[in-house]
Amino acid sequence: SKKAVLGPLVGAVDQGTSSTRFLVFNSKTAELLSHHQVEIKQEFPREGWVEQDPKEILHSVYECIEKTCEKLGQLNIDISNIKAIGVSNQRETTVVWDKITGEPLYNAVVWLDLRTQSTVESLSKRIPGNNNFVKSKTGLPLSTYFSAVKLRWLLDNVRKVQKAVEEKRALFGTIDSWLIWSLTGGVNGGVHCTDVTNASRTMLFNIHSLEWDKQLCEFFGIPMEILPNVRSSSEIYGLMCLGDQSAALVGQMCFQIGQAKNTYGTGCFLLCNTGHKCVFSDHGLLTTVAYKLGRDKPVYYALEGSVAIAGAVIRWLRDNLGIIKTSEEIEKLAKEVGTSYGCYFVPAFSGLYAPYWEPSARGIICGLTQFTNKCHIAFAALEAVCFQTREILDAMNRDCGIPLSHLQVDGGMTSNKILMQLQADILYIPVVKPSMPETTALGAAMAAGAAEGVGVWSLEPEDLSAVTMERFEPQINAEESEIRYSTWKKAVMKSMGWVT
Ligand code: G3P
Repeated sequence: SKKAVLGPLVGAVDQGTSSTRFLVFNSKTAELLSHHQVEIKQEFPREGWVEQDPKEILHSVYECIEKTCEKLGQLNIDISNIKAIGVSNQRETTVVWDKITGEPLYNAVVWLDLRTQSTVESLSKRIPGNNNFVKSKTGLPLSTYFSAVKLRWLLDNVRKVQKAVEEKRALFGTIDSWLIWSLTGGVNGGVHCTDVTNASRTMLFNIHSLEWDKQLCEFFGIPMEILPNVRSSSEIYGLMCLGDQSAALVGQMCFQIGQAKNTYGTGCFLLCNTGHKCVFSDHGLLTTVAYKLGRDKPVYYALEGSVAIAGAVIRWLRDNLGIIKTSEEIEKLAKEVGTSYGCYFVPAFSGLYAPYWEPSARGIICGLTQFTNKCHIAFAALEAVCFQTREILDAMNRDCGIPLSHLQVDGGMTSNKILMQLQADILYIPVVKPSMPETTALGAAMAAGAAEGVGVWSLEPEDLSAVTMERFEPQINAEESEIRYSTWKKAVMKSMGWVT
């Protein structure tokens, strides 16, 4: 049959912690033409450990690409119109594989994993010079969150990894590197690279010189030959890539200093563009590379507030408590009651990230009475996502000096209207969301489409003409908002110090 004629299309692989997606956009309007999504398994082999199978992740990418292309075919759209594919990915998650066999040497150690807590403690006792050694080079606090300590653990504990390093067969990468190496040929000459945004989350990368840092590699005991080549976020290396949170920043067009976005995925990540300047936080935020859209383009930095558990709390209510069957049901339950009835839920499953960086915290549900039911707990879970964002916003406003006038949001959870209204109420500023919530994938597609040699996306606002905005205004009074927030803070204090 005759295929419909369209402008250039750009695809994006969005490999998140909970699911993988492949999406295809029209580069002229940012209209989403077709997509497919596959949920990814998470394994919890021990308390605090979180692993995923790198091969399952890779196959999920193939499956999503295949299904999306089938759907395009059904729409009479010729897939040869796809001019480039971008990659955005869960950051920090650590994979080591064998370049001769192409086999992963251990499961992927997921960013949320806490097994390296004792490694972090012993490393922090022997930080050379002043305590700022790691943070001044990387913008990050020494924490289980980042790749260097996960890689250290693999080198110390997995014989196969040790052997492959000795025999010079080992390659390390975050998920972007693993996917790009596999998709560009794997054992037959796959490209072993990463981009500046992902590199900036390994704790081995110097965010000023934009290179792997020899001193950091020595400190963590990491052999530099297993590290990928670091490239910009928008160039042809087979494919283009950005860490998922940077991709969302691009997808929201936050190109100006002071523009910020919050993405609700497995976790929740608020990034504010600080331009060419590295701003270091006094309030528990990270300094990270925002993007570098081309080999000869300047680097942009961001301040980031990372919340470990956002969408993951809904998955926990589904898989561990079974009070909902699908994630979407959470909205219905919460709506039935419209309040948590004094119940507060701090989902500190992996300790608390920003602004506390408290690995000793664990989840608590408090304020229960005989009246409390599953609807109140569902409501409290949604409120928890909003309160955690409020903590980040407060820290961001203090670090930046100029309070944000509104919050741009995106990600799967933003289709939940109760969540969005609660977020506006708890922040007490308007919340603005795009009609198409897949901003992370859109950002990766934009970076791919704008790359030198592809040139089908100009990164001007008119290229987003298919995206409309919805706005949620605060509806409760400021006093009520403050009372709820201060009770939340009390609950957070109770969640700390559970493990020593
Ligand atoms: O830093 C972890 C982050 O990149 C994971 O994102 O989308 O899986 O919540 P997501």
